[in-house]
Amino acid sequence: MSEKAIGVFDSGLGGLTAVKELVKVLPRENIIYFGDTARVPYGTRSRETIIKYAEQDADFLLSKGVKMVIAACGTVSSNAEGLADALPVPFTGVITPVAAAAANATKNGKVGVIGTSASVKSGAYEKEILKCNHKIKVYQQECPLFVPLVENGFISENDDIVKLVVERYLSEMKREGIDTLILGCTHFPIIAKAISNYLGRSVTLIDSGRETALYAAHLLGTNHLLNTADKVGTCQFYVSDTVESFRSTAEIFLGKSVDGEVSHISIEQVEL
Ligand code: DGL
Repeated sequence: MSEKAIGVFDSGLGGLTAVKELVKVLPRENIIYFGDTARVPYGTRSRETIIKYAEQDADFLLSKGVKMVIAACGTVSSNAEGLADALPVPFTGVITPVAAAAANATKNGKVGVIGTSASVKSGAYEKEILKCNHKIKVYQQECPLFVPLVENGFISENDDIVKLVVERYLSEMKREGIDTLILGCTHFPIIAKAISNYLGRSVTLIDSGRETALYAAHLLGTNHLLNTADKVGTCQFYVSDTVESFRSTAEIFLGKSVDGEVSHISIEQVEL
């Protein structure tokens, strides 16, 4: 057993959707979260830049003595696959857990994947789904506008702008008859209701935060790293932009106000 914290990072605030699920699945674990709010978005950047940022983010968490690192970011997970080999602690991104969940969920073998431009271009989700079942047909769509919509609070399923953008991005997949859709970006679970209303209830939505939390619990268990202390864990947050901007937007992702310590760090100064 280990009382050390689980380290979670994301390009910004979206990874808090994974923290929300982690707290539910592993209530005794301490969590240290780093959101690279000064350099978000990663989803429009080159693979080289995403890898460099991801290495810095993971190194910062390691400097805090974490027992595991989770890249709660679709963009990092699909572009910095090499991170797992470079770290001295167990690591997971979101791709492996969500691909397995989608392959399990589909009945008609038609799975949709939505994510940032960098995630979709990498082809990582498709590759992993086909590893689970090579007969599955994968339909991918970049949805870059979903990120700023969510960050600016356009999240209601009744909002005409949200409905319009959902339709624009997902009409093709709907026509193709997918029965499962991977929400391959940490921001997307926030507009899951709007997506589900458009696609219909028969389409299963795979939430990367939820699946990654479950997979992390499994990884910790097999590595004998679960925290069995008889008390509720704590959350500590670090951000590279201002603490105030984090506090005001984090609620969208956590579903409640932040009740942990929030500190600012200079991520550019983390040595690789
Ligand atoms: N966190 C990113 C992801 O899950 C979305 C925001 C960004 O583009 O950095 O892909």
